[in-house]
Amino acid sequence: MTLEIPNDLAIALEAAGQAHLLGSWDGLNEGSRRNLLSALRALDLPQIQKLGEHLRKPMEHEAQSFEAPITFPLDRTDEQLTHAQKAIDLGESLLSESKVGFVLVAGGQGSRLGFDGPKGMVPVGPVSGLSLFGWHAARLTAAKQRFGMRITWFVMTSATNNGATRAFFEEQKFFGLGSENVHFFTQEMLPALDQEGRIVRTAPDQLFLAPNGHGGTLQALRSEGMLDLAASLGIEQFSYFQVDNPLVRPADPLFIGLHAMAGADMSSKVVTKNEPGEKVGVLGLADGKLGCIEYSDLPESLRQERDPDGQLRFRAGNIAVHMIRRDFAEQLTQDGQLDLPWHLARKNLKGIDAEGQVAEIPGVKFETFVFDALGAAANSVTLEVRRDEEFAPVKNAEGSDSPASCRLALTESFGRMFEAAGHPLPERNADGTLPIEVDPRAAENADEFCAWIDHLLELQRPTTPTENGWLYR
Ligand code: UTP
Repeated sequence: MTLEIPNDLAIALEAAGQAHLLGSWDGLNEGSRRNLLSALRALDLPQIQKLGEHLRKPMEHEAQSFEAPITFPLDRTDEQLTHAQKAIDLGESLLSESKVGFVLVAGGQGSRLGFDGPKGMVPVGPVSGLSLFGWHAARLTAAKQRFGMRITWFVMTSATNNGATRAFFEEQKFFGLGSENVHFFTQEMLPALDQEGRIVRTAPDQLFLAPNGHGGTLQALRSEGMLDLAASLGIEQFSYFQVDNPLVRPADPLFIGLHAMAGADMSSKVVTKNEPGEKVGVLGLADGKLGCIEYSDLPESLRQERDPDGQLRFRAGNIAVHMIRRDFAEQLTQDGQLDLPWHLARKNLKGIDAEGQVAEIPGVKFETFVFDALGAAANSVTLEVRRDEEFAPVKNAEGSDSPASCRLALTESFGRMFEAAGHPLPERNADGTLPIEVDPRAAENADEFCAWIDHLLELQRPTTPTENGWLYR
């Protein structure tokens, strides 16, 4: 019996203005009909209708007033130093009691980078060639060693990279963390729409689907059972980080402690914006609501404005590193749908036209952003950290924020460890990197490196020379 379109589905598509999706039905073979039917059944048509309405809405409401956030600064007063020490103590005890769970978001498509595979597989270890996933795993292993904690790692993927990510973790034997401690969960995909609000197709039986943005993390944590799992493991706080930044410190006692001491719902790390023209989003309050103010949304006069000490007033560059209280994630997602604003990315999409021919279709992808949840936080801490020690993202194939600039930033940070320990720096490679790598399990900062080197000397254990340089692990 040939597969036919269920009547109720045809009616629902017609009513939602999506009848074109059935336009090629007659010419499809059984397999393709089955594919198309399952894709159509998975659609949330009321939600797609709402997305379509966004296309027709005038531009988003522009904020009228902006304020810079109060940050816990890098240059600290005596009082702040005392507070920081208390926070570190609290952070360490939360870590050692395994009350912190780690949430890595790796569901993005990495379209700017154009790497063949999940971004987390990109090799960034300057000497070892260790992948981004490997770096994060090494930092978590370091936390396990340092705090004697149980590591629970929640890894968000999307349909675009879920299989390949899982296969890579399997192949890498879960980086020694134990498969039982790594929990994959998958975010939702959303269809892209053309300018009339019709779902774009990539083939007669395929819809153009894209991950729903890192804002989808919170809903996915709930719908994939991760919030319940975390509660059952006694996890009270989530440390949220992105796959593209190997300098991120997911288990930073200071950040965790400051956030917990303030009873904050959601907190952020920021780096100082270099100059007024640097195109980064800054944390701040727009019309009284905390969030990330996009570069283009901040009026030019405010971009230029300086505090009496000469620093930019709006300088809290967002690096997408957050602490999120588990209760807060539960509260935000309790009614099924988390209400974060939609961000529309208008671009030409590679799809098919009404005749089934491949075409560049002017269309829109929809995403929500995790930092928009800051607006719902009753309390939030903003911690300023050193950019050169904590932020070196891989976004582009070349130039700034590329694998090459990331490797350079990593070796610079190892170089600073060397200098602190009084070691001469080796000669640089042709690309400017230093031929050294310090594994996070050995040391993550200069103090740890000095202590570790002393220990190595006592043991008379040499470092590992490789053809690419010296590996300290
Ligand atoms: P980006 O916004 O830089 O996107 O994601 P991307 O997918 O890595 O790269 P482009 O924009 O396509 O070039 C920042 C972080 O958020 C995750 C990414 O995996 C990355 O860790 N992310 C982004 C998701 O997990 N899901 C999404 O839907 C989008």
